[in-house]
Amino acid sequence: MRVLVVGSGGREHALCWKLAASPLLTKLWCAPGNPGIAELAETVPIGVLDIAALVDFARDNQVDLVVPGPEAPLVAGIADAMQAAGIRCCGPLAAAARLEGSKSFTKELCDAAGIPTALWERFDDAEAAREFVRRRGAPIVVKADGLAAGKGVVVAETVAEAEAAIADFMEAGTMGPAGRSVVIEECLVGEEVSLFALCDGTTALPLGAAQDHKRVGDGDTGPNTGGMGAYSPTPALSAHLQEAAMARIIRPALAELARHGTPFRGILFAGLMLTEDGAKLIEFNVRFGDPECQVLMLRLTSDLLAALLAACDGELADFDLRWSPDPALAVVLAARGYPANPVRHTPIGSLGAAMPGVQVFHAGTELLGGQLVSSGGRVLTVCATAPSLAEARKAAYMAVDAIDWPQGFCRRDIGWRALTANG
Ligand code: AMP
Ligand code: GLY
Repeated sequence: MRVLVVGSGGREHALCWKLAASPLLTKLWCAPGNPGIAELAETVPIGVLDIAALVDFARDNQVDLVVPGPEAPLVAGIADAMQAAGIRCCGPLAAAARLEGSKSFTKELCDAAGIPTALWERFDDAEAAREFVRRRGAPIVVKADGLAAGKGVVVAETVAEAEAAIADFMEAGTMGPAGRSVVIEECLVGEEVSLFALCDGTTALPLGAAQDHKRVGDGDTGPNTGGMGAYSPTPALSAHLQEAAMARIIRPALAELARHGTPFRGILFAGLMLTEDGAKLIEFNVRFGDPECQVLMLRLTSDLLAALLAACDGELADFDLRWSPDPALAVVLAARGYPANPVRHTPIGSLGAAMPGVQVFHAGTELLGGQLVSSGGRVLTVCATAPSLAEARKAAYMAVDAIDWPQGFCRRDIGWRALTANG
C-alpha cells in the first residue's frame, strides 16, 4: 500500500509513526510534513489546502490511500476531489464534513436525530442575538457558526461578555465570514472528554476516548489553546458511559447523515460534556484531535492501515480493533508566548535519549540551515505509555526534562483530573 498523509503537526507525526509500522505499507509520503515526520516518510512540499496539487501527486505516484489529518482540507473537499480521481481517502466528503464546518448544521442534525446536546438558537442579526442573550441571562455560550480554528467560542460568564462576543463576531467581523451568523447555546456543566469513532458510512467502531487540556496554564487556567496535553483512557468515561454515547450520539449521527445521502466515512470525534443528565454533545469534529491522536496511537495495537482501508471500503462491520490496556499520556511543549504570540525560530537542541515507552512527536518544527527550530505555537508532543497513568506521566515529564529547548514551556499537571480522582 502506498499512502499519503496530509498535514504537518504532532497528530500527523503520530499517524505516520503508526502507519510506518504496518506490514501492508510499501511507501509513505507526507505533505507537507515536518522534520520528525521526514524520518519516517518522504515529505512533499505541498500545502494541505492545495487540493489540486495533492490530487495530481497522488495520481502520479499511484497512491492507494490518502489520510488527511486536519479538518481544513476535508471541509474544502479533499475527499471529493480524491474520489473523483478514483483514489481512496479516509475522510468525509465535504457534505458530511459540514459537521465540523458549520455549528448550526450539527445542531440541526442533533435535533433531527434526537442527540442530547445544549439547547441552542442561530442568529443572523446581532440585535436579535443580543435580545436573546438578555432574555436568557448568563452563563451562556456564543459561537461563530463557521470554521474559526478553535477561536470562535466564548463561554460568557456575564451578559455583557456575551454581548461583546456578539459584537466582535457579527459586527467587528473578527472571525471573518465564519462569524456572520452565531449559534447561542445553553452552558453545559461537567467534565469534558473526547470520544473517537472510525466510521465507514454505516458502521462506527469506537477508537477510544481521551481527555484534552485546553487551557494554557496549570489547573486549567488562562486562555484556550489547541490542547496542551491528553491522556487515554479516561476514567471519567466508563465503559458503560462510552457505550451510551455510541448508542445515543455517534450511531444516530451516522444514521441521520446516511439517511440524507451524505454518509460519513473517516474519523468522527465527539466532544462530550459529562453532565448530571448523562453525556451531551458539545461538538463534532471530522478528524482526530491533536494531541488526543498521539495518545490513541500509542495505545492502538491493531494495524491502523488495515483499519483505515476497511473504513474506506465499507467493511468495518467485520472489523475488530485491539488496544493496549496501558494508559498513555501526552505533554505538549509549546513556544513561549503561545497561544497569543509564540516566539518563532528558536533553536531546539537535543531531544534526549530514547526511553522505553516514550515517543516524541514533532508538531511545529522546521530545519533552518541544518538546525532544528520551532516554527509554530505547539512545537513537540512528548508521549509515554506505562502500566499506570501515574507512571506514564512520570515517564513523559522525564522525557520533557531531557529536551534541550529553553524557549519552550509546558503544563506540569497533565492528567490531574484522573490522578486526583484515583487518589
Ligand atoms: P468548541 O469549539 O465547540 O469545542 O468549544 C470550545 C470549548 O468551549 C469546548 O471545549 C468547551 O469547553 C466550551 N463549550 C462549548 N460549548 C459549550 C457549552 N454549550 N457549554 C459549556 N461549555 C461549552
Ligand atoms: N485537541 C482538540 C482538537 O484537536 O480539536
